[in-house]
Amino acid sequence: MGIEQHQVKAAELLRAAGILPVVTIHTLDQARAVSAALLEGGLPAIELTLRTPVAMEALAMLKRELPDVVVGAGTVLTVEQMQQSIDAGADFLVTPGTPPALADALAAAPLPVVPGAATPTELLSLFARGFRVCKLFPATAVGGLAMIKGLAGPVADLKLCPTGGITENTAAEYLEQKNVVCIGGSWMVPGNWIANGEWDKVRASAADAARALSSRGRRSSTGRVRCSRSRSADRCVCAHRGKTCVPWSDCACLHCDPCPW
Ligand code: 3PG
Repeated sequence: MGIEQHQVKAAELLRAAGILPVVTIHTLDQARAVSAALLEGGLPAIELTLRTPVAMEALAMLKRELPDVVVGAGTVLTVEQMQQSIDAGADFLVTPGTPPALADALAAAPLPVVPGAATPTELLSLFARGFRVCKLFPATAVGGLAMIKGLAGPVADLKLCPTGGITENTAAEYLEQKNVVCIGGSWMVPGNWIANGEWDKVRASAADAARALSSRGRRSSTGRVRCSRSRSADRCVCAHRGKTCVPWSDCACLHCDPCPW
Protein backbone atom coordinates (compact mmCIF):
# COMPACT_ATOMS: atom_id res chain seq x y z
CA MET A 1 0.00 0.00 0.00
CA GLY A 2 1.43 3.39 -0.98
CA ILE A 3 1.00 6.92 0.25
CA GLU A 4 -2.20 7.40 -1.74
CA GLN A 5 -4.03 4.56 0.00
CA HIS A 6 -2.54 5.42 3.39
CA GLN A 7 -3.78 9.00 3.01
CA VAL A 8 -7.28 7.73 2.17
CA LYS A 9 -7.07 5.62 5.34
CA ALA A 10 -5.86 8.64 7.33
CA ALA A 11 -8.81 10.69 6.08
CA GLU A 12 -11.25 7.89 6.95
CA LEU A 13 -9.73 7.43 10.37
CA LEU A 14 -9.84 11.14 11.20
CA ARG A 15 -13.32 11.61 9.78
CA ALA A 16 -14.58 8.70 11.86
CA ALA A 17 -12.90 10.17 14.95
CA GLY A 18 -14.11 13.74 14.37
CA ILE A 19 -12.44 14.92 17.55
CA LEU A 20 -8.99 13.71 18.50
CA PRO A 21 -8.05 14.17 22.17
CA VAL A 22 -4.38 15.08 22.50
CA VAL A 23 -3.27 13.10 25.54
CA THR A 24 -0.09 13.56 27.58
CA ILE A 25 0.49 11.05 30.38
CA HIS A 26 3.24 10.47 32.93
CA THR A 27 2.41 6.92 34.04
CA LEU A 28 1.02 3.75 32.52
CA ASP A 29 -1.89 3.87 34.94
CA GLN A 30 -2.77 7.34 33.72
CA ALA A 31 -2.60 6.15 30.11
CA ARG A 32 -4.92 3.23 30.85
CA ALA A 33 -7.43 5.23 32.86
CA VAL A 34 -7.62 8.29 30.62
CA SER A 35 -7.99 6.19 27.47
CA ALA A 36 -10.73 4.11 29.09
CA ALA A 37 -12.56 7.26 30.21
CA LEU A 38 -12.38 8.77 26.72
CA LEU A 39 -13.62 5.53 25.19
CA GLU A 40 -16.51 5.37 27.67
CA GLY A 41 -17.34 9.00 26.89
CA GLY A 42 -17.50 8.20 23.18
CA LEU A 43 -14.09 9.21 21.85
CA PRO A 44 -12.26 6.01 20.84
CA ALA A 45 -9.34 7.62 18.95
CA ILE A 46 -6.53 9.48 20.69
CA GLU A 47 -3.28 11.19 19.87
CA LEU A 48 -0.83 10.08 22.55
CA THR A 49 2.00 12.58 22.66
CA LEU A 50 5.57 11.33 22.87
CA ARG A 51 6.45 14.08 25.32
CA THR A 52 7.08 11.99 28.40
CA PRO A 53 9.58 9.18 29.08
CA VAL A 54 6.82 6.60 29.52
CA ALA A 55 4.86 7.51 26.38
CA MET A 56 6.25 4.85 24.04
CA GLU A 57 5.75 2.10 26.61
CA ALA A 58 2.22 3.41 27.20
CA LEU A 59 1.48 3.23 23.48
CA ALA A 60 2.47 -0.44 23.33
CA MET A 61 0.53 -1.17 26.53
CA LEU A 62 -2.65 0.48 25.19
CA LYS A 63 -2.47 -1.56 22.00
CA ARG A 64 -2.19 -4.74 24.08
CA GLU A 65 -4.74 -3.97 26.79
CA LEU A 66 -7.33 -1.68 25.18
CA PRO A 67 -7.81 -2.93 21.64
CA ASP A 68 -10.87 -0.71 21.12
CA VAL A 69 -8.80 2.44 21.49
CA VAL A 70 -7.35 3.79 18.24
CA VAL A 71 -3.94 5.07 19.26
CA GLY A 72 -2.01 7.60 17.24
CA ALA A 73 1.52 8.52 18.22
CA GLY A 74 1.73 12.31 18.47
CA THR A 75 4.62 14.74 18.72
CA VAL A 76 6.62 12.49 16.39
CA LEU A 77 9.66 14.68 15.78
CA THR A 78 12.21 12.32 14.24
CA VAL A 79 12.47 9.34 11.91
CA GLU A 80 13.67 7.31 14.89
CA GLN A 81 10.52 8.15 16.88
CA MET A 82 8.48 7.31 13.81
CA GLN A 83 10.02 3.84 13.65
CA GLN A 84 9.69 3.26 17.39
CA SER A 85 6.01 4.22 17.23
CA ILE A 86 5.41 1.79 14.38
CA ASP A 87 7.22 -0.94 16.32
CA ALA A 88 5.09 -0.17 19.39
CA GLY A 89 1.95 -0.78 17.33
CA ALA A 90 0.68 2.76 16.66
CA ASP A 91 -2.45 2.91 14.51
CA PHE A 92 -1.36 6.20 12.97
CA LEU A 93 1.22 8.95 13.39
CA VAL A 94 0.90 12.71 13.88
CA THR A 95 3.65 15.32 13.73
CA PRO A 96 3.48 18.94 14.94
CA GLY A 97 5.70 20.06 12.04
CA THR A 98 7.36 18.17 9.22
CA PRO A 99 10.93 18.90 8.14
CA PRO A 100 11.94 17.36 4.77
CA ALA A 101 13.68 14.22 6.10
CA LEU A 102 10.70 13.38 8.29
CA ALA A 103 8.29 14.08 5.41
CA ASP A 104 10.22 11.65 3.19
CA ALA A 105 10.09 8.95 5.85
CA LEU A 106 6.39 9.55 6.54
CA ALA A 107 5.61 9.33 2.82
CA ALA A 108 7.05 5.80 2.81
CA ALA A 109 5.56 4.76 6.18
CA PRO A 110 3.42 1.61 6.24
CA LEU A 111 0.48 3.21 8.09
CA PRO A 112 -1.73 6.32 7.99
CA VAL A 113 0.11 9.52 8.91
CA VAL A 114 -0.97 13.10 9.54
CA PRO A 115 1.96 15.46 9.02
CA GLY A 116 1.86 18.84 10.73
CA ALA A 117 2.24 22.21 9.05
CA ALA A 118 1.63 25.85 9.93
CA THR A 119 1.78 27.82 6.67
CA PRO A 120 0.42 27.59 3.11
CA THR A 121 3.94 26.90 1.81
CA GLU A 122 4.45 24.02 4.25
CA LEU A 123 1.02 22.61 3.41
CA LEU A 124 1.71 22.84 -0.32
CA SER A 125 5.09 21.12 0.12
CA LEU A 126 3.33 18.24 1.86
CA PHE A 127 0.63 18.18 -0.81
CA ALA A 128 3.32 17.94 -3.50
CA ARG A 129 4.76 14.90 -1.68
CA GLY A 130 1.37 13.18 -1.83
CA PHE A 131 -0.12 14.03 1.55
CA ARG A 132 -3.81 14.89 1.51
CA VAL A 133 -4.52 15.22 5.22
CA CYS A 134 -2.45 17.48 7.47
CA LYS A 135 -2.49 18.67 11.04
CA LEU A 136 -2.68 22.47 11.09
CA PHE A 137 -0.62 23.36 14.14
CA PRO A 138 -0.73 25.48 16.23
CA ALA A 139 -4.10 26.25 14.68
CA THR A 140 -5.35 29.23 16.66
CA ALA A 141 -1.90 30.84 16.83
CA VAL A 142 -1.50 30.78 13.04
CA GLY A 143 -4.91 32.25 12.29
CA GLY A 144 -7.53 29.76 13.42
CA LEU A 145 -10.83 29.84 11.56
CA ALA A 146 -9.78 32.74 9.33
CA MET A 147 -6.72 30.81 8.19
CA ILE A 148 -8.74 27.65 7.56
CA LYS A 149 -11.36 29.56 5.55
CA GLY A 150 -8.57 31.25 3.61
CA LEU A 151 -6.97 27.90 2.74
CA ALA A 152 -10.27 26.36 1.55
CA GLY A 153 -10.07 28.13 -1.82
CA PRO A 154 -6.47 27.78 -2.98
CA VAL A 155 -5.67 24.50 -1.20
CA ALA A 156 -9.12 22.92 -1.51
CA ASP A 157 -7.97 19.31 -1.94
CA LEU A 158 -6.01 19.27 1.29
CA LYS A 159 -8.02 18.35 4.37
CA LEU A 160 -7.02 19.64 7.77
CA CYS A 161 -7.00 18.54 11.38
CA PRO A 162 -6.56 21.87 13.16
CA THR A 163 -5.10 21.47 16.63
CA GLY A 164 -3.80 23.90 19.21
CA GLY A 165 -5.96 26.31 21.16
CA ILE A 166 -9.34 24.80 20.24
CA THR A 167 -11.81 24.59 23.14
CA GLU A 168 -15.22 23.08 23.82
CA ASN A 169 -16.67 26.49 22.90
CA THR A 170 -14.96 26.78 19.52
CA ALA A 171 -14.96 23.12 18.46
CA ALA A 172 -18.30 23.18 16.63
CA GLU A 173 -17.36 26.05 14.33
CA TYR A 174 -14.08 24.36 13.37
CA LEU A 175 -15.97 21.14 12.63
CA GLU A 176 -18.30 23.02 10.29
CA GLN A 177 -15.48 24.01 7.91
CA LYS A 178 -15.55 22.06 4.68
CA ASN A 179 -11.77 21.55 4.64
CA VAL A 180 -11.71 20.29 8.24
CA VAL A 181 -11.81 16.52 8.53
CA CYS A 182 -11.23 16.36 12.29
CA ILE A 183 -10.12 18.62 15.11
CA GLY A 184 -7.61 17.92 17.85
CA GLY A 185 -7.26 19.27 21.34
CA SER A 186 -6.56 18.66 24.97
CA TRP A 187 -9.57 20.42 26.48
CA MET A 188 -11.16 17.11 27.54
CA VAL A 189 -7.86 15.81 28.98
CA PRO A 190 -6.15 18.75 30.75
CA GLY A 191 -2.99 17.93 32.67
CA ASN A 192 -4.48 18.65 36.10
CA TRP A 193 -7.41 16.23 35.58
CA ILE A 194 -4.96 13.53 34.55
CA ALA A 195 -2.61 14.27 37.45
CA ASN A 196 -5.52 14.20 39.93
CA GLY A 197 -7.16 11.12 38.44
CA GLU A 198 -10.36 13.00 37.67
CA TRP A 199 -11.61 10.42 35.20
CA ASP A 200 -15.29 11.35 35.68
CA LYS A 201 -14.51 14.80 34.35
CA VAL A 202 -12.67 13.33 31.37
CA ARG A 203 -15.58 10.99 30.68
CA ALA A 204 -18.14 13.81 30.92
CA SER A 205 -16.12 16.15 28.73
CA ALA A 206 -15.60 13.42 26.14
CA ALA A 207 -19.34 12.72 26.18
CA ASP A 208 -20.04 16.43 25.55
CA ALA A 209 -17.60 16.38 22.64
CA ALA A 210 -19.14 13.19 21.26
CA ARG A 211 -22.59 14.83 21.44
CA ALA A 212 -21.27 17.81 19.46
CA LEU A 213 -20.02 15.32 16.88
CA SER A 214 -23.31 13.50 16.61
CA SER A 215 -25.00 16.72 15.51
CA ARG A 216 -22.24 17.21 12.93
CA GLY A 217 -23.66 16.39 9.56
CA ARG A 218 -27.21 17.38 10.31
CA ARG A 219 -27.01 20.93 9.06
CA SER A 220 -24.35 22.70 7.08
CA SER A 221 -23.18 26.24 7.75
CA THR A 222 -25.41 27.34 4.88
CA GLY A 223 -28.42 25.84 6.64
CA ARG A 224 -28.82 23.07 4.09
CA VAL A 225 -29.72 19.68 5.47
CA ARG A 226 -26.90 17.27 4.87
CA CYS A 227 -27.53 13.84 3.50
CA SER A 228 -26.50 10.46 4.70
CA ARG A 229 -24.69 8.82 1.87
CA SER A 230 -23.86 5.61 0.24
CA ARG A 231 -21.71 5.12 -2.78
CA SER A 232 -22.55 4.08 -6.27
CA ALA A 233 -19.61 3.97 -8.68
CA ASP A 234 -18.00 7.40 -8.62
CA ARG A 235 -21.17 9.22 -7.63
CA CYS A 236 -22.70 9.71 -4.23
CA VAL A 237 -26.24 8.59 -3.56
CA CYS A 238 -27.77 10.89 -1.01
CA ALA A 239 -30.18 8.63 0.81
CA HIS A 240 -31.91 11.59 2.40
CA ARG A 241 -33.01 12.94 -0.94
CA GLY A 242 -33.35 9.57 -2.56
CA LYS A 243 -31.53 10.55 -5.69
CA THR A 244 -28.09 10.29 -7.19
CA CYS A 245 -25.89 13.28 -6.55
CA VAL A 246 -23.59 15.07 -8.83
CA PRO A 247 -20.13 13.47 -9.06
CA TRP A 248 -18.83 13.29 -5.51
CA SER A 249 -16.25 15.98 -6.02
CA ASP A 250 -19.04 18.49 -6.63
CA CYS A 251 -21.32 17.23 -3.90
CA ALA A 252 -22.17 19.80 -1.25
CA CYS A 253 -23.12 17.11 1.24
CA LEU A 254 -20.34 17.29 3.82
CA HIS A 255 -20.55 13.56 4.47
CA CYS A 256 -18.99 13.25 1.03
CA ASP A 257 -16.24 15.76 1.61
CA PRO A 258 -13.82 14.20 1.19
CA CYS A 259 -15.42 11.11 -0.27
CA PRO A 260 -13.36 8.34 1.31
CA TRP A 261 -13.53 6.23 -1.81
C1 3PG B 1 -0.86 19.38 20.37
O1 3PG B 1 0.20 18.85 20.56
O2 3PG B 1 -1.54 19.09 19.37
C2 3PG B 1 -1.32 20.45 21.31
O3 3PG B 1 -0.62 20.44 22.48
C3 3PG B 1 -2.78 20.43 21.58
O4 3PG B 1 -3.15 21.74 21.73
P1 3PG B 1 -4.09 22.23 22.89
O5 3PG B 1 -3.49 21.73 24.17
O6 3PG B 1 -4.06 23.73 22.79
O7 3PG B 1 -5.45 21.66 22.64
